[in-house]
Amino acid sequence: MFCTKKISDDLTWVGANDRRLAMFEGVYSVPRGVSYNAYLLKDEKTVLFDTVDKAVSGVFFENVEHALGGRSLDYIVVHHMEPDHSATLQELIRRYPNAKIVCNEKTVTMIKQFFTFDIDACAHVVAEGDTLETGRHTLTFVMAPMVHWPEVMVSYDLTDKILFSADAFGCFGALNGAIFADEVDFERDYLDEARRYYTNIVGKYGTQVQTLLTKASKLEIKMICPLHGFVWRRNIGDFLSRYLLWSAYTPEKNGVMIAYASVYGNTAMAAEILSSYLRDRGIPTEMFDVSVTPASEIVAASFRWSHLVFASTTYNAGIFVTMEALLSDLVAHNLCNRTVALIENGSWAPTSGQLMREQLEKCSNIRFIENTISICSSVKQEQLAQIEALADAIAADLPQQVQAAEPETVASEAVVDPDALLKVPYGLYVLTAREGDRDNGCIINTVMQVTNTPNRISIAVNKQNCTHDMILRTGKFNVSLLTQEAQFEVFKRFGFASGRDTDKFAGDSTVLRTANGVRYIGEAVNAVLSGQVIQTVDCGTHTLFIADVTEAVSLSAQPSVTYSYYFDHIKPKPVVTEKKTGYICKICGYIYEGDTLPDDFICPLCKHGAADFEKLQ
Ligand code: FEO
Repeated sequence: MFCTKKISDDLTWVGANDRRLAMFEGVYSVPRGVSYNAYLLKDEKTVLFDTVDKAVSGVFFENVEHALGGRSLDYIVVHHMEPDHSATLQELIRRYPNAKIVCNEKTVTMIKQFFTFDIDACAHVVAEGDTLETGRHTLTFVMAPMVHWPEVMVSYDLTDKILFSADAFGCFGALNGAIFADEVDFERDYLDEARRYYTNIVGKYGTQVQTLLTKASKLEIKMICPLHGFVWRRNIGDFLSRYLLWSAYTPEKNGVMIAYASVYGNTAMAAEILSSYLRDRGIPTEMFDVSVTPASEIVAASFRWSHLVFASTTYNAGIFVTMEALLSDLVAHNLCNRTVALIENGSWAPTSGQLMREQLEKCSNIRFIENTISICSSVKQEQLAQIEALADAIAADLPQQVQAAEPETVASEAVVDPDALLKVPYGLYVLTAREGDRDNGCIINTVMQVTNTPNRISIAVNKQNCTHDMILRTGKFNVSLLTQEAQFEVFKRFGFASGRDTDKFAGDSTVLRTANGVRYIGEAVNAVLSGQVIQTVDCGTHTLFIADVTEAVSLSAQPSVTYSYYFDHIKPKPVVTEKKTGYICKICGYIYEGDTLPDDFICPLCKHGAADFEKLQ
């Protein structure tokens, strides 16, 4: 019997779930199972994207046959040769001998290694940027080496704007009847498994993932179809943001992960006391016993938290076995950019602290908090002050504003009047970034100096902006403070187009850059501030970037433009030539036609939300 899922008019999921598998790849526990995704495109030609693991081949072949509905199979696109996606390829070719295998040169070599069928007789070899016309659809191919094997490529359906992303954007966990991520509470129920999947499967290859993300940023993506887990059709930007953080080895949360290895509970007690002191200081903590929790979960948590504490007893004059295995796993997964503290224990010759440090020094950009705690057999009362001092040192290292424990959501029936929020004064700024040899910019309205010793500013940037992603990846930006002389053209140029498909500096021969190499605007601007990001806060639709000011230059004495000045004096009044029913964006004048504006509507021009629309009179 078959069990398929419709993805779009022409595309059907023909994969399968496995809930009996104990260890994915023989090493990662999958208590909630795993899905192997394959997709069938029915156009003038039929195209199967990948196959599945041998364990679920029965339902897969039933699914393909049913979805084809009696038609022949013309193409099989092989994105990735790892056997969880290719093991059934030889049998597939036996069943559909006229199908062409669309793949790259490296894949041809691997097919010869894994199988015995004559690939040379049926290969349709593609390279970067090649296209394949299948009727209504045109596919193009993008190489993605080392995401997760060297032969990996992804494909993009130019017609329906679907990215077939291979292992990227996958997730552990079987699909429980749902196929789209927006059918489940992904953040609550699946994000941890997506992180565990990413960090353990491709975590080592952050640079290669960033290369793929940069290529993907130039595409308009309406849907992502990965080889494991859910299909993405909504909130794609949110998931992309996670990938930007993970692949840049940037912590998602400020707080402390404590992993301990303890034989008789004394090292565990030191870890417990430290975590208690940290919580007393309002610092979020997460704890693991490395002898109990699978390493893949602790690797994922290490990618999540900013500060890591490792506590281990000394064992055979070395690090305790489970901790040693964890640390070599972290080194193998290329963990970097973390702050680490250590606790060692030993009844006659404690050495695990130094040895753990030597292991972690193999990772790049690991900062150590020097107050290592050394325990002889068990924690004594007189040692509590040392543990308190370590808690203080960690607290001092964490930005003050995130030390408060996560707030409870308070249910309230009080009125929230959007007009009250509109009374908050805002400015208007051109935010610019540079990545590689590409410059981009957008308009933002929220810049605030948060401290002056050192000089720090915060900016809030909508995640849908291309500039947002560039700053996440590079950590650098400029803010050009616009004056009242700014013309509407500036707002149109930077605010009403997307940098994903527009070069906002095209034709601008005045190339002005600050010391960080990022461009700024010289006209109708009274100052430019350069920022180096030190922290990001995920605020849902926006990311708050907190940054050290690395350069600040005054350019003119003209007053800064405010939001209200812009509305009163710069923005042309909207001209409605015919009577329409709908809502108008107060920011850019875009008109939404319809009786009801959805609460989650985002202006396609300026990316402002429903709160910035008003009903047409
Ligand atoms: Fe899901 Fe790299 O295979």
